[in-house]
Amino acid sequence: MDKDKIIALLNEDLEGEHTAIIQYLTHAYAMGEGEMACEIEAIAREEMRHLDWLAETIVELGGTPSLERGKMRMDGESVADWMRNNVILEEDGMNLYREHIKLIDTPKIKRLLKRILSDEESHHGDFKHFVDKAQKEGAKDLRGVRQDRVAQILDWGIEHEYTVILQYLLHSYMTTNEDVKEEMQDQAINEMQHLGWLAEEMVDGRGTPRIDHTEVDQSTKTADMLRADIKVEKEVADGYDRAAKEIEDPDLKKLLLRIRDHEVYHTEVFSDLLKEEEE
Ligand SMILES: [Fe+2]
Ligand SMILES: [Fe+2]
Ligand SMILES: [Fe+2]
Repeated sequence: MDKDKIIALLNEDLEGEHTAIIQYLTHAYAMGEGEMACEIEAIAREEMRHLDWLAETIVELGGTPSLERGKMRMDGESVADWMRNNVILEEDGMNLYREHIKLIDTPKIKRLLKRILSDEESHHGDFKHFVDKAQKEGAKDLRGVRQDRVAQILDWGIEHEYTVILQYLLHSYMTTNEDVKEEMQDQAINEMQHLGWLAEEMVDGRGTPRIDHTEVDQSTKTADMLRADIKVEKEVADGYDRAAKEIEDPDLKKLLLRIRDHEVYHTEVFSDLLKEEEE
């Protein structure tokens, strides 16, 4: 099979992982704290590792990892319904991986896909178990319809965090500078923390997190990537700073300032890397 065909198949798998990550995180956030939400988040983290492996393989083949997300199954009236949707999503994923394992003849890639498939089989069992557990324990959707200024600020933050997670991951895959790669991966993980904090805050305050992103910088030169990343970090550090001044709730204020400090740190780390890259 030619490279372009393999890249296209792996990108299809990658889009499936992206879908699963956001679908599962949305569920975990909506359920609030608790054992099942933690376990679902852990599954989302495994999907992130899959996404990483697939993206790295795509880049090794000379391709570009897709930023598209497939269609999420977000309907259902109860947590048990959501878990049924997750069972179906895992089944779709398993079928796709089985098909791609048959089609792709490169041993290393076949092996990787089999490795991922075994995780999906395990997730499939987990979600089947969660259907029962949700029914027994009466797990609830804690989201509400809050739409005030606080919700607006949280929405803005969530949208920003999701955007930079995708941006830094893409940059980490595409750069040839190993130091930049490592920092981008690290900071993407830090932005995932921010996303989680803001989404949980939103649900605590009876709002509903919308996990959507804006435009992702797709520069191909490392210096251009860093310039774009510094620009967004500066903007967002200012944004969190302004938001913290406006918010009265002391805990939320503290949270926004903590995130702001991280963003200032990111700006500085990226600025140092840009200096080195320009030398
Ligand atoms: Fe999975
Ligand atoms: Fe952030
Ligand atoms: Fe940041």
